[in-house]
Amino acid sequence: MRPGHVARCPLVAASLTPVKGLILSGGAGTRLRPITHTSAKQLVPIANKPILFYGIEAMVEAGVTQIGIIISPETGSDIQEAVGDGSAFGASITWVVQDQPLGLAHCVKIAHNFLGDDEFVMYLGDNMLEQNLVGFISEFTSRRQSPELSSPTGGPTAQILLAEVDDPRSFGVAEITEDGSVVRLVEKPDNPPSNLALVGAYLFDKTIHEAVAAIAPSDRGELEITDAIQWLIDSGHEVAHDVLVGWWLDTGKKDPLLECNRLVLDTIDPQLDGDVDDASDVEGRVRIEAGAKIVNSTVRGPAVIGANTVVTDSYIGPYSSVAADCQVTNAELDHSVILSNSSIKNVARLTDSLIGSHVDVDRSTHGPAGLRLMLGDHSRVELEG
Ligand code: G1P
Repeated sequence: MRPGHVARCPLVAASLTPVKGLILSGGAGTRLRPITHTSAKQLVPIANKPILFYGIEAMVEAGVTQIGIIISPETGSDIQEAVGDGSAFGASITWVVQDQPLGLAHCVKIAHNFLGDDEFVMYLGDNMLEQNLVGFISEFTSRRQSPELSSPTGGPTAQILLAEVDDPRSFGVAEITEDGSVVRLVEKPDNPPSNLALVGAYLFDKTIHEAVAAIAPSDRGELEITDAIQWLIDSGHEVAHDVLVGWWLDTGKKDPLLECNRLVLDTIDPQLDGDVDDASDVEGRVRIEAGAKIVNSTVRGPAVIGANTVVTDSYIGPYSSVAADCQVTNAELDHSVILSNSSIKNVARLTDSLIGSHVDVDRSTHGPAGLRLMLGDHSRVELEG
């Protein structure tokens, strides 16, 4: 969004609008294997909170409380268990199962019953945005409701969010004219028409259902939302756009996930709900959750230590998120995300790592010398150089 742009728009409609939410939380998460062999990529925690929860909270903050969540048969029940009925977020959740990953536009199709003819914001459950959704949504409703802002065609039927990226070839890409009109969208082009990538947040009115019904699957066999929006343009509908403020990350790979963890940890409020003994130091922006124990150790923030996790004779350095019920003993780690119920013992230095739940990392005390590994399919180990 351009700085100051929202402020010029009448905001009255924002909190009154019945905009619904659609969060896409299916998908196989192949690039986060082996973590995603057993759990949904949207439940991987950032600063000890599942990625998906940030999206739900952003919707509720923008007044969107009727939320449909698309889930897959493989990971859907875990997501349902984590989110519950939505009341903890102040939302009511409708679950929609997508049997096969047939594309983002396919998600709109199968959610039609839930969406009805209402306007809705669609959000990719593994994306993280620094900006909230309040301005993005209020701008759309204002453009549609305010005569001086609406186009002669009656205002936009869709609004997309764009971000400038260095290499747009792995995204949907938009071509914008000098007067700011969106004229073309193309999915993962070899020759991108611009460096403006489609971020995983979209707004639609009911016209999108016609578009989704009209398009055919792409070469990758999916009904692309990009093609559906192109159909809107080709049919004479206005598609509005905003350019993102702040960072945006698709957390579906390890390094962006660690980067996201870093960016979010930089914003947490220090909080001490656990126990820190006299022999320990806690420095900087650190959150220690209830029941956690820090014994003869140093925790240097930004970092979070999960509920009931015990850190003994160890150093936990900046940009670490250790989830609940872990044990860190005689170890040093930094810039890492450790999921729940894992144990890190006698390790000189663990860095830049993503460790799943129920994982044991320990130093062997018996010979012969050598690495003893039991790694899941698609694991990756980088030994010290
Ligand atoms: C999807 C969209 C693409 C968009 C991207 C954002 O790609 O098809 O247009 O730029 O999300 O993360 P996918 O993640 O399905 O490859």
